[in-house]
Amino acid sequence: MDVITDISPLRTRLRHESSIAFVPTMGGLHEGHLSLIRVARQHRECVVASIFVNRLQFAPTEDFDRYPRTLEQDCALLEEQGVHVVFAPEERTLYPAPQEFTVEPSPIANMLEGKYRPGFFRGVATVVLKLFNIVQPQTAVLGKKDYQQLHIVRELVRQFNLPIEIVAGETVRAPDNLALSSRNRYLSNEERAEATRLYQVLSQVKREIEGGNRNFAGLEENAMKTLISHGWNADYVSIRERDTLAPAQPRDGNMVVLGAGRLGKTRLIDNLEIIPKKE
Ligand code: PAF
Repeated sequence: MDVITDISPLRTRLRHESSIAFVPTMGGLHEGHLSLIRVARQHRECVVASIFVNRLQFAPTEDFDRYPRTLEQDCALLEEQGVHVVFAPEERTLYPAPQEFTVEPSPIANMLEGKYRPGFFRGVATVVLKLFNIVQPQTAVLGKKDYQQLHIVRELVRQFNLPIEIVAGETVRAPDNLALSSRNRYLSNEERAEATRLYQVLSQVKREIEGGNRNFAGLEENAMKTLISHGWNADYVSIRERDTLAPAQPRDGNMVVLGAGRLGKTRLIDNLEIIPKKE
């Protein structure tokens, strides 16, 4: 496995590769990322992963400074999974000057996560476009855990006509169903025990809708109340149409319920796809 930190040697290394699957990450790797690598391996011959904590997608109040940076351990895990190339640039390599051209994503980026993390998706879309330009993959694999991010990257590729197939990887969960996240390591023991409640309330919403309940506002409100009564600083629980992420309508077929909130200082997100009964 080659670990490359600069753009020019990376381009030289990849010049003759015509079948590249790319997994962008911010490091702090866990089984969720590794499952994306395995998906990438099934799609293309050469697997490239990037590790870069992207300042542009963090608000000044967020955890940029304490975000886990575990490069050596991450590289060992990626090597075990058969990754061919790791691109791990320094900040000055990707942003040698302030990034003044940015990608302004579609209005959906101002809802859900975007409402609570203004500018987040601008930062994500901008770095993803840069990484796609540098790596020039034929396939990129992103996780469903960041459902809205996946949606926005798909739109980025579609609207900028990038010749890249986006493949979605399933969310990987701990035995108690907490979605794996690099941020789970911030949780205290008590918070970790409580953290699985997000999955539980989303599962309850999913069950209700799959059982025929169409009172979406009521379901969202109950879910929020449950989280708040257990000490969560809940941001949203929202039922959305799956392809557009517009608020779901009773007649919608494919839906997804997304939720986010803070436990102590740690912000957690999760979602579950809903497959309603045919009427
Ligand atoms: O999901 C992430 O880890 C990041 O948002 C990404 C896609 C690597 C962009 O920095």
